[in-house]
This record gives sequence, structure tokens and C-alpha cells, in this order.
Amino acid sequence: MAIERTFSMIKPDATRRNLTGKITAKLEEAGLRVVASKRVWMSRAQAEGFYAVHKERPFFGELVETMTAGPTVVQVLEGENAILKNREVMGATNPANAAEGTIRKEFAVSIGENSVHGSDAPETAAQEIAYWFSGVELVG
Ligand code: PPS
Repeated sequence: MAIERTFSMIKPDATRRNLTGKITAKLEEAGLRVVASKRVWMSRAQAEGFYAVHKERPFFGELVETMTAGPTVVQVLEGENAILKNREVMGATNPANAAEGTIRKEFAVSIGENSVHGSDAPETAAQEIAYWFSGVELVG
């Protein structure tokens, strides 16, 4: 299996509760390496741009409010099968459906305040990494 990179976010509901270290530890324990990380407080325009694919969905306004409510830690994770591995360790989008031991089972509050984001495919990973990071910021 080739080494992959994926994009991850520790969302404002989690940074507010000081969970950045605990969540990053779970990612690292799963075999993922943090090759870039920074803390950003998204503007409305940045959040709307990042989630543009969801702009027609009924929860879009709530999603943008949630993501601009405080700081987010944006990260690039590297490892074998990183995209799928990250999705597994995150757990289901709705914490009510998340498996035992996953980040969302342990920490998420609701489907909106679900603590983490992870890319769902190689194309979105490349787009999402490029949205927040320049090449020189990725240190493998
Ligand atoms: S998924 O995983 O993309 O299939 O999930 P989906 O249900 O399509 O949700 C996409 C993102 O929207 C967020 N979401 C919400 N935010 C606020 N309020 C409500 N009601 C809500 N429903 C869904 C969900 O957390 C997903 O965020 P990301 O960051 O992509 O995981």
C-alpha cells in the first residue's frame, strides 16, 4: 500500500474544549504522522469556500456558523492508506452512529459539532490540502 496524505481538521467545538492534543494522539496512535499543522480562525468566506460543495444543503448556514465560532486546527496527515485510516479513526459523521473507540464516539457533541473532519477521497484530499497549505509547509 502506497503512502498517502490526507487533510484533517480539529473543529472549533473540540479546540474550545482543549482536545487538540487528545485528538492528535489518537491520529498518531492509528499510525498517521502530522506533516503540517496550524491553527486558523476561519472567516465566513473561507468556511463557505471550503464547504462550497454543500452550499445547497439545508444545514449549510449552521455548518458555516459552527466552523467560524472559534479556532480550527488544520492538519495534513501522512501514512499507509491515510485517507481511509483517518475516516476509520474519526468514526461516523453523526456521533450517535460512531463506533466505540473512534474520535467522534468519544468527543463529538452532535452531527454539526462533530469535532473532526477528514477528506473522503484522493481528489478531495489534494484539493483540501491545497486550500489551506502551500507546498513548503508540508514537512514529511
Ligand atoms: S458526509 O460525511 O460528507 O457524507 O456527511 P454529510 O452528512 O454529507 O455532512 C457533510 C458535512 O456537514 C456537516 N453537517 C452539519 N453541520 C451542521 N449542522 C448540521 N445539521 C449538519 N449536518 C451535517 C457534517 O459534520 C459534515 O462535516 P465534515 O466537516 O465534512 O465532516
